[in-house]
Amino acid sequence: MSEKKKKPWSGRFRGATDTLVEEFTASVHFDKRLYRYDIEGSLAHVRMLARQKIIAKKDEKLIVSGLKEILKDIEKGYLVFRPEDEDIHMAIEKALIERIGEAGGKLHTGRSRNDQVSLDVRLYLRDELRQIGEMVAHVKTALAGLAGAEEKTILPGYTHMQKAQPVLLPHYLLAYWEMLDRDEQRLGECHERVNVMPLGSAALAGTSLPIDREYTARLLGFPRVSRNSMDAVSDRDFIAEFVFAASLLMMHLSRFCEDLIIWSTDEFRFVEFSDAFTTGSSIMPQKKNPDVAELIRGKTGRVYGNLVALLTMMKSLPMTYNRDLQEDKEPLFDTVDTLKGCLRIFREMLGNLKFNRDRMWESASTGFSTATDVVEYLVRKGVPFREAHAVVGRLVLHCIDKDKDMDDLTLEEFRKFHRRFGKDVYTCLGVEHAVNSKRSPGGTARELVLKRLKDIAEGKI
Ligand code: ARG
Repeated sequence: MSEKKKKPWSGRFRGATDTLVEEFTASVHFDKRLYRYDIEGSLAHVRMLARQKIIAKKDEKLIVSGLKEILKDIEKGYLVFRPEDEDIHMAIEKALIERIGEAGGKLHTGRSRNDQVSLDVRLYLRDELRQIGEMVAHVKTALAGLAGAEEKTILPGYTHMQKAQPVLLPHYLLAYWEMLDRDEQRLGECHERVNVMPLGSAALAGTSLPIDREYTARLLGFPRVSRNSMDAVSDRDFIAEFVFAASLLMMHLSRFCEDLIIWSTDEFRFVEFSDAFTTGSSIMPQKKNPDVAELIRGKTGRVYGNLVALLTMMKSLPMTYNRDLQEDKEPLFDTVDTLKGCLRIFREMLGNLKFNRDRMWESASTGFSTATDVVEYLVRKGVPFREAHAVVGRLVLHCIDKDKDMDDLTLEEFRKFHRRFGKDVYTCLGVEHAVNSKRSPGGTARELVLKRLKDIAEGKI
């Protein structure tokens, strides 16, 4: 076998790897994204090896300076990765040995690529989780800001896409705030399980060398080390968990986007996107399309796809490491990129919306949206709820037949349906009253929504 074709593992091989196999098995074209974390992990590992006297101080020095040079060169784009390097771990190790010679061959002492790759991904994801967490927090702040600016706006709330009851727009917006708040918590909880140091699990069984895993963990800022070497090299549950949290987050964004898309139609006219956040049609001159919202909605499917890919890849995998696991990276990277892209533009989009307050109000005041308030009016007068519901149902039918709104009815007409109706029934027909009377905790009354908004602003979550 030619020297060039030799792999770090080629001792037991007589022949060289088929080029097709090299290309097929290579991951360096995508896992090169982990280079910083790979070097960070190696630097900590080598310091631990020297401290434990597993390698000499002078070798440590050579390795450290070699790795730092490699880092600089990768950053400047000087280091070219080839399929025959297999993955980022071997590419860096090979570059190190080329630069510092024999000492470079001591770096991989007491570890394997199996624990190394888990470490790299954990370091990477830990970083990304922090950034994504901050981005979610920014979106929440933008939602709260918008809620504050729309303090008085009332719109119809819907169930089954049928007009249900009037609600305050800030109440609607803060519903998303709550959802994103849980998403942020979920990401935080995922971080706890990502933040575990697997290095030193070696291939699967640990090592007979006197390594100090706690020391390596401390150097890398991990509060804990993994407790079982087989578990550490075989599971990627922390990746699936992240992609699941990302899927829920995307689902929340997509629902908001869907409402905006519907609300921006000519049929609704509840909201208008600014020109900067819409695109035109190549044929229909009148069009102003909400592409950003549509793409966020569409990309949600892509993130779900990544989750299913990961779960399926791991299903029934025998213990411990199997090369299938290399397939974890592209769905993970794609999820991180998609999620960050969506969060960034979603936040911007919130600042590019103009709510049509009059339209919303007008719509909230029609379609018998305060019928439930009339039921509760009768309940307050002592009528059993079921009876009141039936009475108001008949009233609605009567209005539909006569093509009238409820407030067009005379008191006599009301009385025909129930003798307990009094003059005060008219007050409960108004949308403002309907909103502000919903004082049950968590309800849409302005007083409660503003209190929640104040608590959010003061950090009293
Ligand atoms: N590129 C591999 C991965 O991503 C690294 C671990 C390789 N380990 C092995 N035994 N071939 O999973």
